[in-house]
Amino acid sequence: MTVSPCDTIDGAVRKISVPTKSGQYTVSIGSGILDSLAKRMPALAAKDRKLIFLLTSPEIWSLWGQRFRASLAPRQPIVLFLPAGERYKRLSQVERLATEMAKAGADRSSLLIAFGGGVVGDVGGFLSAIYMRGIDYIQVPTTLLAQVDSSVGGKTGANLQTGKNLVGCFYPPQEVVADIELLSTLPQRELRAGVYESIKAGLIRDAALFRFIETHREQIDRRDPASLEKMVAASIRIKAEVVGLDERESGVRMILNFGHTIGHAIEAASGYRALLHGEAIAWGMIAATAISRKRNLLTAEAVRRIEAMIRYFGPPAFPPISGKRLLQAASGDKKNRAGVRRFVLLQGLGNAVVTDDVTDAEILAAIECIRPLSGSGK
Ligand SMILES: NC(=O)c1ccc[n+]([C@@H]2O[C@H](COP(=O)([O-])OP(=O)(O)OC[C@H]3O[C@@H](n4cnc5c(N)ncnc54)[C@H](O)[C@@H]3O)[C@@H](O)[C@H]2O)c1
Ligand SMILES: [Zn+2]
Repeated sequence: MTVSPCDTIDGAVRKISVPTKSGQYTVSIGSGILDSLAKRMPALAAKDRKLIFLLTSPEIWSLWGQRFRASLAPRQPIVLFLPAGERYKRLSQVERLATEMAKAGADRSSLLIAFGGGVVGDVGGFLSAIYMRGIDYIQVPTTLLAQVDSSVGGKTGANLQTGKNLVGCFYPPQEVVADIELLSTLPQRELRAGVYESIKAGLIRDAALFRFIETHREQIDRRDPASLEKMVAASIRIKAEVVGLDERESGVRMILNFGHTIGHAIEAASGYRALLHGEAIAWGMIAATAISRKRNLLTAEAVRRIEAMIRYFGPPAFPPISGKRLLQAASGDKKNRAGVRRFVLLQGLGNAVVTDDVTDAEILAAIECIRPLSGSGK
């Protein structure tokens, strides 16, 4: 977890650059940087930039809006609202928001700032991608999950009645500003849901990050800013490296889906109600770890450490879903290509491998082996 060549430290702010096909963008990470947004966002000052729109949810705006406004002054954004919740990540909302922008005079020079969790980020990115065939946008993620995962990588989109994230596009932001202080108002369950994605980042590519979370788990759980900042920066660096190598998820980016085949199946089979995304991924990672162990890719000690770490953050009980139902849901995962199920396994801590030969029997066995662990978290 050392500072890589693409990281720079500017005062108290870490900067990570994310390469894309069309150039690159910067992720700034720090505590309290919400108060210096104008300085952090060169894209705000672009020539001919007339209108700035800000997409957020009423809850987030009531908590942080005043500081946000003060930070942008004298410029003021036109604020657009998306109600909180996954059920509003819909095309109908994208259309409503685009209409509001058009009525307010948005043109191609307009900029949109997505200020919220992954839902606001995904909808804001998609809206920016399609409004007048594409306007600039900036991500200011407010949940841990959005900071360590969804705000970086340029995936945008919305859900359909028939499934999550079925419409969308790759559309990178101009900038990402991740302020750790924003996490101070996050409900504990949401914080932990984000920690699981950081654990994932460590497991697939950075054993030192895994070790850091292991040794700082108490500090992270009580939101010690320095520990959170290190974890967020290291997680973003992994995401940046991986998406830099494979922007459109045709190869190595698949490793980011560690724990997600079974995690998505748990979410889908329980109607997206029982667990938060990160919590389902926590169980998915434990199952994928069990399969890796059965294939002798992981030592018993590594398995013990992974399970202990995930269970420290206490994901809620594994929902009562039959193995058969989970398998059905796993077959419908959109990461499958031409009927082949891509499955990410671990070959040691910090090293992931993508396979396409994990059998139904292996998945069923892994699920049965994790059920007894359920509910015994912290
Ligand atoms: N684009 C990607 O690469 C990518 C990756 C992972 C997940 N996602 C998407 O992200 C979404 C999940 O994102 P999420 O976990 O951030 O959930 P979310 O956006 O629904 O936010 C969770 C809750 O926290 C509240 N909240 C947000 N910030 C807060 C703050 N600072 N203080 C208090 N409350 C706050 C929100 O209002 C909401 O109620 C899903 O739709 C998922 O598909 C996208
Ligand atoms: Zn995820």
